[in-house]
Amino acid sequence: MALPAAAPGDGAPPGPAPAPANGPATAGLATAGLATAGLATGRQPAPPAVEVAGLVKAYGPVTALDGATLTVPAGSLTALLGPNGAGKTTLVRILATLTRPDRGQARVLGLDVARQAAQVRERIGLTGQFAGLDDGLTGRDNLMLIGCLAGLRRRQARARAAEVVELVGIGEALGRVARTYSGGMRRRLDLAASLMTRPALLVLDEPTTGLDPASRQRLWQALDGLRKDGTTLLLTTQYLEEADRFADLVHVLHHGRVIASGTAAGVKARAGGRVVTARLERADAVPQAARVLAGRLALAPGAIRAGAAPDLITVAAPGGARDVAAVAAALAAAGVPVAELGLRQPSLDEAFLALTEPAGSAP
Ligand SMILES: Nc1ncnc2c1ncn2[C@@H]1O[C@H](COP(=O)(O)OP(=O)(O)O)[C@@H](O)[C@H]1O
Ligand SMILES: [Mg+2]
Repeated sequence: MALPAAAPGDGAPPGPAPAPANGPATAGLATAGLATAGLATGRQPAPPAVEVAGLVKAYGPVTALDGATLTVPAGSLTALLGPNGAGKTTLVRILATLTRPDRGQARVLGLDVARQAAQVRERIGLTGQFAGLDDGLTGRDNLMLIGCLAGLRRRQARARAAEVVELVGIGEALGRVARTYSGGMRRRLDLAASLMTRPALLVLDEPTTGLDPASRQRLWQALDGLRKDGTTLLLTTQYLEEADRFADLVHVLHHGRVIASGTAAGVKARAGGRVVTARLERADAVPQAARVLAGRLALAPGAIRAGAAPDLITVAAPGGARDVAAVAAALAAAGVPVAELGLRQPSLDEAFLALTEPAGSAP
């Protein structure tokens, strides 16, 4: 879909300064296999779809991006993870040429976003928080309008509409006016619209936020289908479990910096690997349990954390079952009653907490 020109008055200076020469602040995680993502579709390995180095963007006193550096391999589905305010939307807007960076470099499909903005805009699709559908038109007419605005002939637009409708699975609703669409259908129509021009890179800002689980599932299936169809996808999300399941590569953004990059599994591993979870019989015993475990076990800083529920405590368990036994023994010796004890892989949410919280934080 055609994108509007950069919003005037967003405080952008006339041009970007050179990026710092140093790389990302984080140690690179194993990204083996990611570079070959393009091979899965039988194509030659391509240069990265997105290369960002030392990107800085401030809004007055607020630093939205503080030297973000990352790569999106061609053919990959890459997720930008981060809590609210991490800088995800700012980064995506810079890549889509809607906002200009203060400093640093961003290349999209080999093009500089500052110097070649118009060419970037022609080649990418953007969906999500900037939906631009006409409520009074049917789904089909919306797609035809967007196709024709993008310069397709009617016949070409009709053919492409049929393809994208198949890809995103909205066939049954095409004849209805967009105003009657559910939230999930709307997102998929928006997605279909942005696909009319066959963008080589599709950028999605929180595409699944606010959708019910079934709609999220269907949207993800559509995105997965697009990737298999050869489109590179960069999306932002706060739903870490989705990135865990679908993304080839994740970049964790925090306070405008990339604090971890790699596969979801790699990020999890970096955040400490397996954990012992102990459910205590009484939630008010959690602080005591934390003290006992910190005192009796040789733990790395930050190894003990509050769990997802008030009566849960989790402990990093690099030793696996041995650590379960050690936790059980320590709590029993201190007279802390335990209702349940288990060993499991950390969720990406826990990995994310471990990466963003200062080390050593205990419940
Ligand atoms: N147009 C703006 N004006 C002022 N502050 C902004 C603007 N856009 C974003 N910010 C601030 O920049 C930071 C990063 O925002 P954003 O990129 O939207 O993060 P995210 O998408 O990860 O939630 C936040 O502190 C936000 O309040
Ligand atoms: Mg955002």
